[in-house]
Formats: sequence, structure tokens, C-alpha cells
Amino acid sequence: KTVSLIGIPLEEGSGRGGCAMGPAALRIAGIAQALCDLGYTVEDRGDLRPAAARDLPEMERARKLDVVGAFTRAIEAETYKAASEGSVPVLLGGDHSLSMGSVSGMARHAQELDRPLFVLWLDAHSDFNAPDTSPSGNIHGMPVAFFCGKAEFAPILPKDRPFVDPRNVYQVGIRSVDEEERRLISDNEVNVFDMRAIDEDGMGSIIKRILSDVRAADALLHVSLDVDFLDPDVAPGVGTTVPGGATFREAHLIMELLHDSGLVSSLDLVELNPFLDDRGRSARVMVDLAASLFGKRILDRPTRAA
Ligand code: ARG
Ligand code: MN
Ligand code: MN
Ligand code: MN
Repeated sequence: KTVSLIGIPLEEGSGRGGCAMGPAALRIAGIAQALCDLGYTVEDRGDLRPAAARDLPEMERARKLDVVGAFTRAIEAETYKAASEGSVPVLLGGDHSLSMGSVSGMARHAQELDRPLFVLWLDAHSDFNAPDTSPSGNIHGMPVAFFCGKAEFAPILPKDRPFVDPRNVYQVGIRSVDEEERRLISDNEVNVFDMRAIDEDGMGSIIKRILSDVRAADALLHVSLDVDFLDPDVAPGVGTTVPGGATFREAHLIMELLHDSGLVSSLDLVELNPFLDDRGRSARVMVDLAASLFGKRILDRPTRAA
């Protein structure tokens, strides 16, 4: 089995500097070796560096649209290509606006297979703003609305591209939602498991429920892991920390359940800001979580049948 690493030195969606160094930090933390050690063929496709798109306008409520839009196009194409070639695309971010491209590319791939695409969004934030609801104008707060077809920008991708049904989006770890965003996720029936749900029901039971929905739909599953899903004590290297996040153990449990399920088709590792990190700690946690998702485990058997 082949894994394709795709570096995305993108920070313009986040409104601050640093995430563009994310791919380098994840490589230094040993992402390729970790997956190699698990028996995968790892193909590092290097970093995408598209020129800003000159056809995309300046939008006050969607900052750096020309840069983010150019990345979206390049990422969509590269993710689709890697997946069609039978490999598992792993996007090394880069801020979360990169998921506009990765998820759209996987949606195109899933459509060709005539299967639905489900998305597991592990994040403190819902990232369901649109230019007219965003308090910041930062596009990294909008990718979910974009790939669900609910955010209007100037045309970035073809109008007839496949969208993800918001009812097939599962968000876990949520603890920061903007006023209007709250209404949008509920109107669009996004499945949201906030920290309260995790405390009440337990991470294991929530993830198992989600995975059984994915299996029942015979869907592909894209996993998008934002560093700020984790508690800031576990992973400080991110610009948008929110207290009360997932623990190291909860995060590893998710990854091991995902691996046991055999359902994951693609992965984003996003929002790592090495400028804010503590001696590479957050980069190493992200690599360790990716390794768990790809099968690293304590014992030489499944933790428990999923
Ligand atoms: N909701 C806020 C906004 O729209 C924060 C979004 C943070 N997103 C992220 N991917 N870190 O600006
Ligand atoms: Mn995010
Ligand atoms: Mn976030
Ligand atoms: Mn592990």
C-alpha cells in the first residue's frame, strides 16, 4: 500500500505567519520514516507552490483569495491524482483552508467510484463560515462550508464539481463556534460532537457510532486533523488554541479505531505552526497520531474489534 505525502506550505488562510513551515516540521519530525516503518511505500511528492491566481478578485471578507484559491486548485488536482493512482493522500499543512482542495479532490474521486464521501473533522472549530458570516475574513474558518457548496467565492473550482453532503460531515472536539456559524451548522444538519458529548458519552463510543455510519453507507472517509483539536497542553504549536481540548489518549484512541476500521481513504494534518511550537513537540504529536492511524499500536493485535 502506498501513501503519498503532499506538502502544502500555505498560511495565507490563517491571517498570520508560520503554518507555511508546517510541512518542513512534519518531515523533520519523521513522518515518512514513521509510515515506512509500518510497511507502507511512502512517496513524498514535495511541496505544492502554485502562483497566486490572477483571475480571483480581492475580497475583503475572504482574505488572500488569490493565494488560497490557487492552492485549492493545485491541491484538488494533486489529491485526486494520488487517490486515483490507488494511494492514500496525506496532506502536510499548512492552514486548514487546504481542505477546500483536499476534500474536493476526494469528492471527485469518490464520485468516480460511485460512492459517497464522508468527512471526519477533528477540530476545536466548525470552520463553517462563509465570507458574509466570518468575523475574521480568514479563509481557514470556511473550508467545510466551501466543500459542502455553502460558501460563495469567485469561481475557484468548476461549478459542476461534486459537493459533500453536510449530513455526511462528522465534527468531533468542537468548542469554538461563531454566532452565525452555529445556525449554519444546525440548518445544514452537520453532525457535531462537541466536548460535552465527548465527556458524556466517551470518545470511543462516539467514534464507533460514526464509523458504523460510514460502513453502512459504503463511503470513503476523509479525516481532517487540526492541531487545535488537541488540548493546548498537548499541542501548543497552533495559532488558534482553545482550552479544554482532546487529550493525548483520546486522540490516540480515535486513530487506532480509525485504523482498525480500514475505512480511511485520505488525511489532512493541518494548522501546525512551528513558530509557536515548543521544541517540536506538537509536530511530533501529529506524526505519532498519523502513525497510529496507519497502524502503529502497543500490542501486536487490534486493540479490540471495531
Ligand atoms: N471561527 C473563527 C474564524 O472564522 C476561527 C476559525 C479557526 N479555524 C481554524 N482552522 N483554525 O475566523
Ligand atoms: Mn480548523
Ligand atoms: Mn481549529
Ligand atoms: Mn500511538
